[in-house]
Amino acid sequence: MAPTMATEWNINQVRSDFPILSQKLENGQQVVFLDSAASAQKPTIVLDKEREVYSQYYANAYRGVYEFGAKVDEELETSRETVREFLNANSTNEIVFTSGTTMSLNVVAQAWGRKFLKEGDEVLLNEMEHHANIVPWQMIAQETGAKLRYLPLTEDGQLDLGRLPEFLNERTKVLSVTAMSNMLGTINPLEVLSKAAKTVGAKFVVDAAQYVPHGPIDVQALDIDFLAFSGHKIFGSTGVGILYGRENLLEEMPPLLGGGHMISEVHLDHSTWAGLPAKFEAGTIPIAQAISLGKAINYVNDLGWENLQRHEQELSAYAWEQLQTVPGIKIYGPGLKERGAIFSFTMEGAHPEDIAQLLNRKGVFVRHGHHCTMPLHNVLNITASVRASFAMYNTREEVDALIAALHFTRERLRLNR
Ligand SMILES: Cc1ncc(COP(=O)(O)O)c(C=O)c1O
Repeated sequence: MAPTMATEWNINQVRSDFPILSQKLENGQQVVFLDSAASAQKPTIVLDKEREVYSQYYANAYRGVYEFGAKVDEELETSRETVREFLNANSTNEIVFTSGTTMSLNVVAQAWGRKFLKEGDEVLLNEMEHHANIVPWQMIAQETGAKLRYLPLTEDGQLDLGRLPEFLNERTKVLSVTAMSNMLGTINPLEVLSKAAKTVGAKFVVDAAQYVPHGPIDVQALDIDFLAFSGHKIFGSTGVGILYGRENLLEEMPPLLGGGHMISEVHLDHSTWAGLPAKFEAGTIPIAQAISLGKAINYVNDLGWENLQRHEQELSAYAWEQLQTVPGIKIYGPGLKERGAIFSFTMEGAHPEDIAQLLNRKGVFVRHGHHCTMPLHNVLNITASVRASFAMYNTREEVDALIAALHFTRERLRLNR
């Protein structure tokens, strides 16, 4: 099948924007980077923006009235506004810069949870969640006496919505879910889940870490109370993330961290808090990273989400079809209609670590292990898997390289005999 015009147009433009993708390895091989689910590569526009901040007007944020300080503040607020638009939040007061998804979810669990959860309350999670959307809830549940419940999955790795009524009731205070599984690739039905949460008065929390490089999420249309994502997965830098929180909820929550910038008044025996979003931005935030996050989002906005999604769907379909031709491969998760461009698999007779190492010899970079989803791996009855994850800059040729490297692996491990 020949690539479509849209794919050709996108891919040439997009790849040239990511300098790392044209790197050659020491042995002359082209890098085939298939680990964007762990962290995505950065376009020149993001790299340039950070250089601009550090070389032209760097200063601490929200502190100096001098020119550099004012410029940094203005750039940060421009970035915050870009994130607000991306999520369709009501106000920039609802956009908190954090250090990443993990931190954002910890703020929700610790700050909201400590105040509002009590013994007998329930938090509804499910078996596919990343550890970042399990462990913070376990910690606060232990402290408050709330109970965690886990919605099971169907055989093909989707949430078993038919069983929701068994798990959701008037005791459920939070339904927290990933928008896209970082192992199964499953894209979850946020609209259905949001409605279900609201019928019992539960807060609806979305872990959007894995989904946002593949599409925007409208927090108002989906009636989302809290949403978390990381800059580094959406082509931005590490060290910065976002917590979206509905304004009235952020207002009634205590801050999690205390320190500079998050205060209104400090006395020797007590303090009062700054307004939003500063109340949740204690200390020095990751300044250049937060500024360049806006550029990363602008970059994908400008490419066009429709183009991006068309390209990824075509690539997914091709990867799905080609992977099935490799003997002994078992792909986890649902069919193409319900998944994004993440493929976790095992190969009969081969350990995931051996597969990843042999793929590396062919310049194909994939992740192996439990991908921070140990409970999910237990449910699937495996200890580890190999994960090939695709982003908008990947190509059909890279799928071919993966498949060729898998055949090489089979030969090396003498699996063809
Ligand atoms: C679904 C999901 N949630 C949360 C995280 C944690 O993100 P971070 O490590 O950037 O905090 C990840 C990262 O792999 C993820 O895929």
